[in-house]
Amino acid sequence: MEYPFDAVVVGAGGAGLWAALELAREGVNTAVLTKLYPTRSHTGTAQGGVCAALGNLEEDHWEWHMFDTVKGGDYLTDQDAAEVLAREAIETVIELEHMGLPFNRTAEGKIDQRRFGGHTRNYGEAAVRRSCFAADRTGHMILQTLYQQCIKHGVKFFDEFQVVDLLFEGDPAKGGRAAGVVAHRLADGQLHTFRAKAVLIATGGFGRMFRITSNAHSLTGDGVALVYRHGLPIEDMEFFQFHPTGIVGIGILLSEAARGEGGTLLNDLGERFMERYAPKLMELAPRDMVSRAMYQEIRAGRGIGGKDYVYLDVRHLGRKVIEEKIPDITEFARLYQGVEPLKEPVPVQPTAHYAMGGIPTTVWAEVTRDEKNTVVPGLFAAGECACVSVHGANRLGTNSLVDLLVFGRRSGRQMARYCGQVDRPRPIADATEPIRAQLEAIRDRAASGDRADSVAAIRHDLQDVMMDNVGVYRDAGLLSVALTKVRELKQRHGRVSIADCSHVFNTELLEANELGYLLDLAEITVVGALARQESRGAHSREDFPERDDKKWLKHTLAYRGKDGPTLKYKPVSITRFEPKPRTY
Ligand code: FUM
Repeated sequence: MEYPFDAVVVGAGGAGLWAALELAREGVNTAVLTKLYPTRSHTGTAQGGVCAALGNLEEDHWEWHMFDTVKGGDYLTDQDAAEVLAREAIETVIELEHMGLPFNRTAEGKIDQRRFGGHTRNYGEAAVRRSCFAADRTGHMILQTLYQQCIKHGVKFFDEFQVVDLLFEGDPAKGGRAAGVVAHRLADGQLHTFRAKAVLIATGGFGRMFRITSNAHSLTGDGVALVYRHGLPIEDMEFFQFHPTGIVGIGILLSEAARGEGGTLLNDLGERFMERYAPKLMELAPRDMVSRAMYQEIRAGRGIGGKDYVYLDVRHLGRKVIEEKIPDITEFARLYQGVEPLKEPVPVQPTAHYAMGGIPTTVWAEVTRDEKNTVVPGLFAAGECACVSVHGANRLGTNSLVDLLVFGRRSGRQMARYCGQVDRPRPIADATEPIRAQLEAIRDRAASGDRADSVAAIRHDLQDVMMDNVGVYRDAGLLSVALTKVRELKQRHGRVSIADCSHVFNTELLEANELGYLLDLAEITVVGALARQESRGAHSREDFPERDDKKWLKHTLAYRGKDGPTLKYKPVSITRFEPKPRTY
């Protein structure tokens, strides 16, 4: 079946929903496709807040927010983009408030704000309260609010339609334009073509390549991998954030809000060990530093009971703060760990959380195809799958929600302008054939193969090698082993065997396809990490422990080559803040 639309939005998290809302407001005929249901999108799991320099509790300025974002990103952040983020955060959050988002309030009725890692006043002087929040369910409230607005404005949703290919008129790597998408309907396995002038990729992250992650099962990098497979570059994939406080063993997040409200991190000796690593900001140093500090303590034998975790202690905050400000995460500790946070410290360890890299875009969310930032007409990306790059080498907590809101909104506005200027692309003959052939090849092998090549077995091996070799600390030895292993796994994936050969609700088939995306993205991550011989932000090479601005103050672009990714580089935008050593 073929549907003609003007705009197609792939993904129904915060970025996709806000883009769709803008398009609907402009009267653009828009379809939102999601492989889940919109309210199950991963934005809904974001906990601690969305930052904006509102200054509701103390003096704050967007320039300070911009500076923190640049410094937090270890100066790999594009400063033109960071300026847009910090300036527009303010109006975006206020617009959300006016849409009815139930933020926590101060006694005077203003939006309440709290501290988060790396957010400071007066260019690094001390922590500032900048994160606006709805208890520890901020993402959930954002998702519900935006979904209600989309319904009110008549946005058309296609739920459980998983996009499996992108369509172009001409080669996008050589000037071709976006022309739509192909989607697989979960209910019956049929392929549907959505022809459109403008396509937004808003498919979120790909933390599922790691064993311990805060990311849901669905976070498999679909949009990023599809863009790469069409010959377009992917940016800065070697930078993947490990959030310090995941639930031990399973990775579910215990929000940084706990530390923002005054929670502390303790080692086996009961010491607040962050004193040694970030004496000024302590537990509110940026995440890359806190995660590294935790590993250092564990390596020195000061993990709890000598094991691979430390304690998050919120006992001193008292029942009122815990119940009003961090109710969900304390409930997670009870439910998943059997720990009562009012009385006991909670075991935590770093968890793979957020991709700083992704699809390169302009500040108007237009996808770019080379080192000169040449735009691919009609193709847009926003949210975690995109790399604007506002996060550089390390994202600050609460800058993800504001990124997806600011650039989701901008993408919708820019797509509406673009749709007003161009004709709808011509129908594409046999648009579904390439992906149909790929999916059928997997289905044909159903139940015929060796279970050693099952989706679960290959994914398990991928997650292990990424966690153990491409985690918080890396070196050439670990990365080289990882590269060999990921390439072996790609070979095995070529023979992947599934047990379900039906057409109805065949999630195993889709998981086999998603595993191919994860493998591609893992390979780019490892190749980029091996090449980058320095330590910057979340990319910490023990064999190259220093940041090297002379050689490496540049973005990586990975292109799909015959024998794997090939790398090129492009400059960082530096408009206000010259790179300096990063201390907190
Ligand atoms: O800790 C948190 O609540 C996570 C926030 C974020 O990743 O921005």
